[in-house]
Amino acid sequence: MSVLGVYIHIPYCLQRCTYCDFATYVHTEIRPPQEYVALVKKEISDKKNLFRPQELKTIYFGGGTPSLISAELIVDLISELAKFGYTTGPQTEITIEINPATVDERKLEIYLKAGINRFSVGAQSFSDRLLKMVHREHNADQTKQTLTLLRKYKLNFSFDLLFALPTQTLNELRHDVEVAVELGSKHISPYCLTVPEGHPLSKNRPLEEEQIEMFQIIHDALTRHGQSRYEISNYAVPGFESQHNLLYWTDHEYWGLGLSAHSYSKDSPWGSRFWNPNSLDIYARQALSGAAQLSSQVEVLEKHQALTDFCHTSLRLSEGLSVDKLVQKFGSETSNQVKDLTQALIQHQLLTFQDQSYRLTEKGILISNQIFEKFTFLKSDLA
Ligand SMILES: C[S@@+](CC[C@H](N)C(=O)[O-])C[C@H]1O[C@@H](n2cnc3c(N)ncnc32)[C@H](O)[C@@H]1O
Ligand code: SF4
Repeated sequence: MSVLGVYIHIPYCLQRCTYCDFATYVHTEIRPPQEYVALVKKEISDKKNLFRPQELKTIYFGGGTPSLISAELIVDLISELAKFGYTTGPQTEITIEINPATVDERKLEIYLKAGINRFSVGAQSFSDRLLKMVHREHNADQTKQTLTLLRKYKLNFSFDLLFALPTQTLNELRHDVEVAVELGSKHISPYCLTVPEGHPLSKNRPLEEEQIEMFQIIHDALTRHGQSRYEISNYAVPGFESQHNLLYWTDHEYWGLGLSAHSYSKDSPWGSRFWNPNSLDIYARQALSGAAQLSSQVEVLEKHQALTDFCHTSLRLSEGLSVDKLVQKFGSETSNQVKDLTQALIQHQLLTFQDQSYRLTEKGILISNQIFEKFTFLKSDLA
């Protein structure tokens, strides 16, 4: 059944964290949130026919720090979508990314009244030393206070952990994981720090074997506490997976609104992708002009591109790349071509074939990017 998720980007932050490459600005350096939200509302109204109005599967407020702007503005965006038939119901998962110490009870109650029912907290670490090192605005106690508030309201929350930080020790990592499981979240996203070569945070990183050990420590601790890895960097108690992120990995449509947001539509045989600019001024100009998506911001996919995306996103999931779904979408000839590619990887224990699906092994997950390269197709590759 076709479902639709909406992602709304809120590019305001208290500070720029050293490692972050998301499209965000320090909140005092750009136009006030009301003006930005007015632009996004105009984008909704101008692009309302790009998808079929329906009850949404998910809405996801990401950033930046959506919890930094007023809760009323967030609610306003949910109402604006509903105005054009993109409604929410009891089954709709509405997630907001919050930073520690940016949400109080008043804000929380406004969120809850609007149907927001999932909170993704950017904890990153419970070591004040490491938080300071990456220019985080909060300390570990403030994170714990925020998580305690969410627990007080018995809410569904997740949090992000960043690991393999420069000079981070295995014991510091163990401590982060211990605190993480103690805090009782049903969903945790451990992200291995990724920074370009030469970046200040690329120095003094834990050695590769230590990073692998960190990965293992996280995996063992979370699985021991009832969470399963459903995606390379995502663990959840079964039933608490992020429905919004699952849309990205299971070939469903999503509509990205706001600065730098990406969309995927099945409006053509192999689908199309379109995205908004990374610059706030260009985004504002485009939104105000009401102009249709610039061709430079649209990609109508061809079969080999759709196959590449399908393989990459499916292999990220523990349930893997399903042969049935491959045949259904691309036909048996193409599915056999993919099968041929998997044989050597299975022999090297990087992939397994289980329940009609190709899945990354523990060993395969550690070099997943290299494996994805093998499933990157050119037009000439497909018969
Ligand atoms: C959209 S970001 C930011 C969310 C929120 N503003 C925050 O900082 O907590 C979502 C997550 O991506 C992860 N992330 C950001 N930059 C990263 C990087 N360079 N390498 C790995 N993970 C990163 C962080 O864990 C972060 O919580
Ligand atoms: S608060 Fe989050 S989005 Fe903002 S700069 Fe830091 S990591 Fe990036």
